[in-house]
Amino acid sequence: MCGIVAYIGKKEAYPILIKGLQRLEYRGYDSAGVALMNADLNVYKKKGKVNDLINFIGEKDTAGHVGIGHTRWATHGKPDDINAHPHYSGNHRLVIVHNGIIENYDIIKKALERKGHTFTSQTDTEVLVHFIEELQTHFFLSLEEAVRKALSRVIGAYAIVVIDKNDPTKIVGARKGSPLVVGVGEEGEFFMASDASPIVEYTKRVIYLNDEEIACVSSDGSIVVKTIQNQELTPMVHEIELEIEMLEKGGYDHFMLKEIHEQPTRIADCMRGRMSAEEGWIKLSGLEEHLSRIANAERIIMVACGTSWHAALVGEYLFEDLARIPVEVEYASEFRYRNPIIGEKDVVIAMSQSGETADTLAALEMAKDRGALIYGVVNVVGSSISRLTDAGSYIHAGPEIGVASTKAFTGQVTLLTMMALALANTRGKIKTSYYHQLLSEMEALPHKVEQLLQEVDQVVKYIAEEIKDAQNMLYLGRGYSFPVALEGALKLKEISYIHAEGYPAAEMKHGPIALIDENMPVIVVCTNKSAYEKIVSNIQEVKARKGMVIAIVTKGDTTIKELADYTIEIPETVEPLTPLLSVIPLQLLSYYIAVMRGCDVDQPRNLAKSVTVE
Ligand code: G6P
Repeated sequence: MCGIVAYIGKKEAYPILIKGLQRLEYRGYDSAGVALMNADLNVYKKKGKVNDLINFIGEKDTAGHVGIGHTRWATHGKPDDINAHPHYSGNHRLVIVHNGIIENYDIIKKALERKGHTFTSQTDTEVLVHFIEELQTHFFLSLEEAVRKALSRVIGAYAIVVIDKNDPTKIVGARKGSPLVVGVGEEGEFFMASDASPIVEYTKRVIYLNDEEIACVSSDGSIVVKTIQNQELTPMVHEIELEIEMLEKGGYDHFMLKEIHEQPTRIADCMRGRMSAEEGWIKLSGLEEHLSRIANAERIIMVACGTSWHAALVGEYLFEDLARIPVEVEYASEFRYRNPIIGEKDVVIAMSQSGETADTLAALEMAKDRGALIYGVVNVVGSSISRLTDAGSYIHAGPEIGVASTKAFTGQVTLLTMMALALANTRGKIKTSYYHQLLSEMEALPHKVEQLLQEVDQVVKYIAEEIKDAQNMLYLGRGYSFPVALEGALKLKEISYIHAEGYPAAEMKHGPIALIDENMPVIVVCTNKSAYEKIVSNIQEVKARKGMVIAIVTKGDTTIKELADYTIEIPETVEPLTPLLSVIPLQLLSYYIAVMRGCDVDQPRNLAKSVTVE
């Protein structure tokens, strides 16, 4: 939530900041702003998206080689021009951008008000920059020292960048709980940003700040990294692999559509070098490091939020079905606040695309404190979760920019399938022939997803046209198809704003059936053979109440085809792998419905891609 970008160097800062904000816009799009240091310190900010800011700035003075920018997802204070970042300190000497929440801002605000400070916005951020100013002027501190002292008194989460009109040769950034990356460019050139996407065009050399670390970068080329406790650190420079094309739409109308179509390649990337059907092996280095502990875990707990939680639910089915290890799937937010029982024999797996979700991160920290082994299944390399965990596996899905997650889901499920199979084999819980069959079927997946994408596109579009005006939809599934039903419903509500609910098909009788009439499309995922007869009965129950049934079936199915109003066929595969195919038409269905309804597919209202507040 909220994106931050900053630049110091020889280039003009404004175009770099604007491009950076456009790349970070997925993190929030309630308002945007920039501050540019020139003879004066110019701050421009506007409610709305980065394009609204560009129009607002128009021909105004944007000169300057030092600047900071922000795109906001509102927490404290409504989205408007005043609450937009950057925020000035009281004496207009400092300017700050912030991602996170300062929990004790109210106490600090009252203390500052007693000293004569007045505030123009409703934000916690403005309080923080006044606080830094107060310490700086009262104790005659350098900017970095004032930031350090202020942050040592702050409770909450933050990534901040601050600049000082009286010291225009430096930028100070710090983080705790929210991400901040420093890019090291040409001589005397530095970047700071919430992720590497605004930086990668200029340099691949980055420093990941850890929690409670402050970086002070100067136009003389120096960089000093310290802890908030004033301990100086040697910064570690990493080379990032991100390519700029990965951050562009590549000819598609939306990032979401591009990401849906990337799935064959991304699933293949996730498996590459990690398994061979011909030779019958799976090798995940993170898993191997702790194989005995994970294979002998009394219980595996998976923690996640949103789509990642749905992937974890597929993981539960896979781990229990194949490896026979008990698994619990927990919403990270509930898990951390309900004093759960966790011990040294537990393994906690965090699923997260961004690796930054505040609740997931906090749940992991708690599990670590209580002695569990913590494992990350993460997409973003170098993210907070990937650095906190004892071990983990990246899903290699590449940057996911559309707010509605698609390729990260299939990447997570692919990874969990490999883990489940590796554990099943180690524990001797799977027949050799079935193990080999699953490996071969996995290798065939990229091709099957490719084929599916081509084959279903027109029929999905047609169905989307038929049902796009519905106000409610129900998604049903059993067994491996139940998490897919949940994910299908989430995709639809996220981007088309149609109310949708996912349900275990049998549970329909315990409530949702009351809602079914001729206006209610019911999407039934019927691709698992083990529950086939039961799901046929559920479809009949819907039809008996005049509901419209859209069924996702396996190619060659005739029974359900006769019953359903519309069917979408997926290629045949083994049951544990069906989620990786059946979810694809549901992603497309929500995409086309959202487009037909004129919704902003990549940046749906009120949502953000990376939820770094609790
Ligand atoms: C937000 C995003 C979702 C995502 C969820 C969890 O709600 O909009 O797409 O599934 O956060 O994020 P994570 O990065 O931890 O997977």
